[in-house]
Amino acid sequence: MQLVIVSDITRRKLDYINVTLILKMCGIFGYKGKKGALNTILTGLKRLEYRGYDSWGVSSLKKGKISVAKKVGAIGDIKVLEREDNAVIGIGHTRWATHGGVTKVNAHPHYASDKSFVLAQNGIVENYQNLKRRLAARGYKFISETDTEIIVRLIEDELKRSKGLQKAIIWAFKKLQGRNTIILLTKAGRIFAVRNGSPLVVGVGKDEIFIASDTLSFADKTDDVIFVDNLEMVVLDDEGVNIFRVSDGKRRKYKLQKLDHRDVSIDKAGFPHYMLKEIVEQKHTVREAVQYSIEELKGLMKSIKSAKNVYTVGSGTASFAAGQIAYFLRKYASIPAVELKAYEVDSYKQLFQKNDLIIAVSQSGETADTIEAIDAAKAREAKVASIVNMVGSSIPRMSDYPFFTRSGPEICVVSTKAFTSQVAWGLLLAFSVAGKHKFVKRSIEEFSKKLEKYFNEDLFKNIRKLAKELLRKEHIFVLGREQNYYMSLEGALKLKETAYKHAEGFASGELKHGVIALIEKRTPVFVIVSEDDVKDDLLSAAAEVKARGAWVIGISSKNNELFDNFIPTVDAGIADPIAKVITFQLLAYYLAVELGNTPDKPRNLAKSVTVK
Ligand code: G6P
Repeated sequence: MQLVIVSDITRRKLDYINVTLILKMCGIFGYKGKKGALNTILTGLKRLEYRGYDSWGVSSLKKGKISVAKKVGAIGDIKVLEREDNAVIGIGHTRWATHGGVTKVNAHPHYASDKSFVLAQNGIVENYQNLKRRLAARGYKFISETDTEIIVRLIEDELKRSKGLQKAIIWAFKKLQGRNTIILLTKAGRIFAVRNGSPLVVGVGKDEIFIASDTLSFADKTDDVIFVDNLEMVVLDDEGVNIFRVSDGKRRKYKLQKLDHRDVSIDKAGFPHYMLKEIVEQKHTVREAVQYSIEELKGLMKSIKSAKNVYTVGSGTASFAAGQIAYFLRKYASIPAVELKAYEVDSYKQLFQKNDLIIAVSQSGETADTIEAIDAAKAREAKVASIVNMVGSSIPRMSDYPFFTRSGPEICVVSTKAFTSQVAWGLLLAFSVAGKHKFVKRSIEEFSKKLEKYFNEDLFKNIRKLAKELLRKEHIFVLGREQNYYMSLEGALKLKETAYKHAEGFASGELKHGVIALIEKRTPVFVIVSEDDVKDDLLSAAAEVKARGAWVIGISSKNNELFDNFIPTVDAGIADPIAKVITFQLLAYYLAVELGNTPDKPRNLAKSVTVK
């Protein structure tokens, strides 16, 4: 069996600027090989569920007929669908709704009218209203409310003129605006997939091939992968070797690349939720993130020292890690690094210069906003470094200096271990630049050992008890400063994400400039106190809010009379911000559990935001 990779370089380049502000994250998975296609697809989809989890569908070909099964809700057991899984080819999709509600009809894949193919999409057809109007005028009927069905009807329409499905797909694809990656299964036993924006990778195993949104989804099956670039088409053909380029008719040569998947297990390992498992895993993952030798860091360190400007970028939780990394570079290496929000790139992209360095921070390596910032930096010949968790994702491949957090798959939608690994790597970088490589490694090693003891039943009980006391509170404030400023932001974000509470993180210096007006009797205020130069400032802030009736909760390695409640943390030296943020991760987890929320899959969120 062979791969056909068709490239259409004439298609318009991605135009991020014109992309409307809509989110869409979905996962696609295709399989061609031995029997058991449905089970393989289902397993793959489960590993992609972080990309969307409101509904899902699978499709397979048997005896010349394409069957489709769709469900609303979490990805379930394939046995519900099929007793015998003899199919050798199929595709699947996990959805995060944008156009059209969460219904079985709107779930992908979508049938062609004559059932000659089915299609699923990861992306958004931004001009779907125009296209739909035109198709409707030509007599086409629509079964679902999705933008994806438009692509199906467009292809059908073109098939009336085009010679062959492949040409019709390309034609239709060219009509789409936005970032769309599509996958089709045909009655003739072929899979087509076309990429624009949203990721697409091919895994090549023994007698079987996978096409998916990420490498993790088939990491348990093969390490041999082919990365599909934007505006390329992959065809898995039943007849064997077929490799073409649409633009010039030539083959697109490719080499199999070996991926290093260290820990690809994605079970809960006895924990009730991935979130708790991943929080506890931090006792090891912080260490993994700092394994790089001075030799491996050399290129980046040189670039940092010679750069005109050093910027760090990220989105969401990763943007807080980016802020923390910039802080470490300023504080410990005297590098004037500045954090920029990836999604604000239009406001600063004209400032990038040739000798600048941007350090991109991302768990998934696929976040559209972060990629846009990288593109803007590269367009102005700045150098790019990245710290990413997902091996084989787009951001490392765009980077001059790619680094990996090596935290293993983070399945919980809410980021925990990836964040602290990014922060740990930031420490490694800053102290290495300052000539203290051995010191930072030793410090993180010691911290990791302390964490081993720290995670115990008493801690969990203590935090769960606090969570119960906070259940009915709607407004929560978190004060930090200096090394704990970004931790206050991240801590508050965790509470928002899983407990759906209004939580705000502030620099304690901000208090008197307005925030203090919000303090009422029994308003919960968390105060993050490290054994550092600003300890007294934090304690003063605690006293000020307490004087106004606040309920002061101290997050510190040492208790203090100002604290109404006290959650002890590890005294972690330079790694103290990590020690502190772990409290909020656990609190967010237990609040979610006590409130009956789903900590692994909070409402409205998706782990990987691959479209603007
Ligand atoms: C989404 C997720 C966040 C994550 C952010 C950036 O908003 O819900 O948890 O921090 O994307 O993702 P990245 O993969 O780039 O770290």
